[in-house]
Formats: sequence, structure tokens, C-alpha cells
Amino acid sequence: MPIIAPIDTSIAEAGALLRAGKLVAFPTETVYGLGADATNGQAIAALFDAKGRPRFNPLIVHVASLADAQRYVTFDRLAARLAERFWPGPLTLVLPRRADADIADLVTAGLDTVAIRVPAHPVALALLRAAAVPVAAPSANRSGHVSATTAAHVADDLEAKVALILDGGATLHGLESTVVAISEGMATILRSGAVTAEAIEAAIGQPILRSLEGGDRPQSPGQLASHYAPKAGVRMNATSLNLSEALLAFGPAPPRHSGPVFNLSPTGDLIEAAANLFAALRALDQLGVAMIAVMPIPENGLGEAINDRLRRAAIKGR
Ligand code: TXA
Ligand code: MG
Repeated sequence: MPIIAPIDTSIAEAGALLRAGKLVAFPTETVYGLGADATNGQAIAALFDAKGRPRFNPLIVHVASLADAQRYVTFDRLAARLAERFWPGPLTLVLPRRADADIADLVTAGLDTVAIRVPAHPVALALLRAAAVPVAAPSANRSGHVSATTAAHVADDLEAKVALILDGGATLHGLESTVVAISEGMATILRSGAVTAEAIEAAIGQPILRSLEGGDRPQSPGQLASHYAPKAGVRMNATSLNLSEALLAFGPAPPRHSGPVFNLSPTGDLIEAAANLFAALRALDQLGVAMIAVMPIPENGLGEAINDRLRRAAIKGR
């Protein structure tokens, strides 16, 4: 049973496991998080695999302080005000990603914004300090199940997938953090949660917008792009190629091609492929090709989420 009391030695061990690319579940003041090193694309791919998420939704990055957050995102006056008022606490800010931010593409699903927060739970903060890396953490439950609010809930769902579960008792709020995007001097609630809209409005002295669709998905109010999409067209399940196309390959036997090729995983490993997906799309897109032809990718495991993202890139309106 990997459920462990959060004492100094177990927290240090948990931090070392995170740095080694393993998954660690930990309590926050909202719900339990399933944590992975946000700088390690393979660890993030393994996290999606463990959750069984059929989509690469962007994840929240957890850090121990505002100063740490400033290494990854930029704060305008409004964002600084909110961070000052609500951190540590159950408010997640979606802010512009710094160009030099060491955050895996899969964490942000290729977006140029990062969702980030400083949790208020002492065990979470101690773990973040011990890990000394930013920690991406969705709620520690299998996709489609309710969010875990005790260590036992986490074990029920994910025991075989996590290296360790730090037991901090039942979580305080039992409800996820409020997700707020800041863009062009406006704040927009993307997901309601433990901090109320009224409390946010009182802190910033201006009305907060609510995203039209709401729900547990990134939205696109104003300048916020809802998901990363290449400029090039995307053609799925390509078994033959035109000369002018770029090839997004998978596995040991890609078709011969004289044009640009990026192999997501020459060994056919879906975790490696997921970790490479956004970098691959960006690299091929930057060559200015009109079409990216994608080899068939199996629909099992992470293949489902990889194909979901590629399909959405293929049908997007440009
Ligand atoms: O309370 C919480 O927030 C918990 C604990 C563990 O901290 N975490 C959590 O993470 O609920 P997750 O991954 O289940 O939710 C992330 C939310 C989703 O609604 C996602 O769409 C949004 O944050 N999000 C993440 N990055 C985003 C981005 N760059 N732009 C817009 N929305 C983003
Ligand atoms: Mg969740």
C-alpha cells in the first residue's frame, strides 16, 4: 500500500520520486492532486495515461511561491493583485507563458499560457519545496470519476499507477480551485471553484467575466486561444504521401519520404509519442508546409488522446 504519512522523510522521498519522473499523489486544500514533474514531458504523458484521460486538457502547474511562479509566467497588475490576495490558496491563474519557461508542451497542451497556482496545504507546499520542480497536478482520480478528497479515494482509483500517496486526511474544500484567465486587463472565470466570483471582484474592484461555455475545458474569451492548432492542414491515417507534405510518423517503419519527417516514437511507444506531440507539430508547422500527413496511430491507451488532438487540428477552421 503506497499510502504514507507526510513526515519529513516521506516528503523528501516523494520529492525525489517526482524529480525521477514518477507520479506522486498529494493533498491540497481543494482535492488530492496526481503530481508529475512539469518539466518532464514523459512524466506528464505517463500522468495522462494513469488518469485515462481521452484528451490532452492543459494541466495546472503547482509551485511553492509567487517568486517561483514568476519563473514561468508573467504577471500584469491584475494578476499580481489576485496572486497577492489569494495565494497560497484555491485560485488558479491562466497567464502568459514566459518564452524561457521550462514547462513541457504537454502540460499546456501547446498553448502559450500556463495555468498556475500556489496551494495552501502545508503538505503540498512542503512537497513542492522538496521536489524543487514545478508540479503539474490534475485531480487524483481516473477520468470520469469524482475528484479524490481522501488518500483512500486516490488508492481506489490509482493505486497501481502512483509511486506514493501522501496522506493528509480529508481535503478542506472538496472542490477544485477557481480558474481565472487574465488577458488585456480583464479577468475571466474559466472554471468556478473554491474562490467565489464575488470575492474576486471585491479584490480587483472590477467585474469579472464568465466564460460562455464554462465547464472543465479551456475557453477562448478575447485573446485566449482555446487549443493549439498548427497553421498547416492535418491529414490523418496517411498511408501514402504527396511530395509537398510533411510526415508525422509513428513506429519503426515509416514510409519513405523525401520531405520533412518527424517520428513521434520510432519504437512505437505511445508515452514517448505523447510527450513529443506538440513539439513535433510546431517543428513541422514552422517549415511552412501546407499539409502534415499523419501515419495511423493506434487508438489504445494514450493513442486515443493523441488522435483526438490531431483530429481536432485536422477539422479546425482556418
Ligand atoms: O483544485 C485544483 O485545481 C486541483 C488541485 C489538484 O490543485 N487540480 C485540478 O486540475 O483540478 P485539473 O487538471 O483537473 O484542472 C485544470 C483546469 C481545467 O479546467 C483546464 O481546462 C484549465 O485548468 N486550464 C489549464 N491550463 C489552461 C490554460 N492554459 N488555459 C485555459 N485553461 C487551462
Ligand atoms: Mg478533475
